[in-house]
Amino acid sequence: DKGTYPHYMLKEIDEQPAVMRKIIQAYQDENDQLTIDSSILDALESADRLYIIAAGTSYHAGLIGKEYLEKMAGIPVEVHVASEFGYNMPLLSEKPLFIFISQSGETADSRQVLVRIKEMGHPSLTVTNVAGSTLSREADHTLLLHAGPEIAVASTKAYTAQLAVLSILAAVTAERRGRDIGFDLVQEMGIVANAVQAQVDMKEELEQIATDFLSTTRNCFFIGRLMDYFVGLEGALKLKEISYIQAEGFAGGELKHGTIALIEEGTPVIALATQESVNLNIRGNVKEVAARGANTCIISMEGLNEEGDSHVLPKVHELLTPLVSVIPLQLISYYAALHRDCDVDKPRNLAKSVTVE
Ligand code: F6R
Repeated sequence: DKGTYPHYMLKEIDEQPAVMRKIIQAYQDENDQLTIDSSILDALESADRLYIIAAGTSYHAGLIGKEYLEKMAGIPVEVHVASEFGYNMPLLSEKPLFIFISQSGETADSRQVLVRIKEMGHPSLTVTNVAGSTLSREADHTLLLHAGPEIAVASTKAYTAQLAVLSILAAVTAERRGRDIGFDLVQEMGIVANAVQAQVDMKEELEQIATDFLSTTRNCFFIGRLMDYFVGLEGALKLKEISYIQAEGFAGGELKHGTIALIEEGTPVIALATQESVNLNIRGNVKEVAARGANTCIISMEGLNEEGDSHVLPKVHELLTPLVSVIPLQLISYYAALHRDCDVDKPRNLAKSVTVE
């Protein structure tokens, strides 16, 4: 039931702070320590490489999950699009562990990979929102997202829940391996939940950004570096699927290698600037496109912000910025679609779970 909300998507965007708090609770033991089922930790410990397999938004979550698992837990990770992996399997390491990320747990592209790797005798873990789903039943292990039912076709709270659960998996695995991640994840997640709340409370400002940058455009670019690049990919997917604006996300450094040819007078370019080590670089990229007439919208983070930025996010731990920076992109997409009278919850040609290959 969407209650007083005009759309499930808006309701699900608003639920994200509560979902984050719920996930933390769900993964805490009686002493408030983060915990993961020991059979899952054993599986990670015995693996020499993790293979994340997913589609769409869940693939985008996997790209961030790789950062968490490599940076915190120190295990090498590859991330693959399920529909490609099934037909062109790369050379595998000696002891692979497969991690399937799927909100629905029913995605056929992912399932065909699961079936194949099981035949090969490899262990598997499904990260899903749906207990008892096909991918959950058929994998050796399951981690649940605890996001509650996601009804809107465009995935929002499942994406942030996937990031939260993957960060917990990475942090607990790190601890098990005696690695100090250098911060208290529970505390930092609390700060993130507040920052997300602040975003969903700024709907008017974000609706205005949709009006200023997207009301008449046919296309839009998202640029970022490091994790901002991955969040930009997700922002582009969200925008295209519900507003039908042609959108593309790419790494800021790739501009000069081709895409900059597409920039015309008024082309909207939404840039994320939340990563300190590349702040100057991404701002350089924004100047390059602005000089060619782009209508540039910078979404930055406190401490890295400059005068003229369109939207400034509260400061959170650098690894957790995607959980916050994706929220304005979700809301901007929502309002862009709304302003174009699109069917926000049920975009054309799409199904909530894709059970065919
Ligand atoms: C985008 C979207 C899709 C799904 C994809 C995978 O908003 O919802 O891209 O993310 O079809 O679905 P799951 O996660 O159910 O495997």
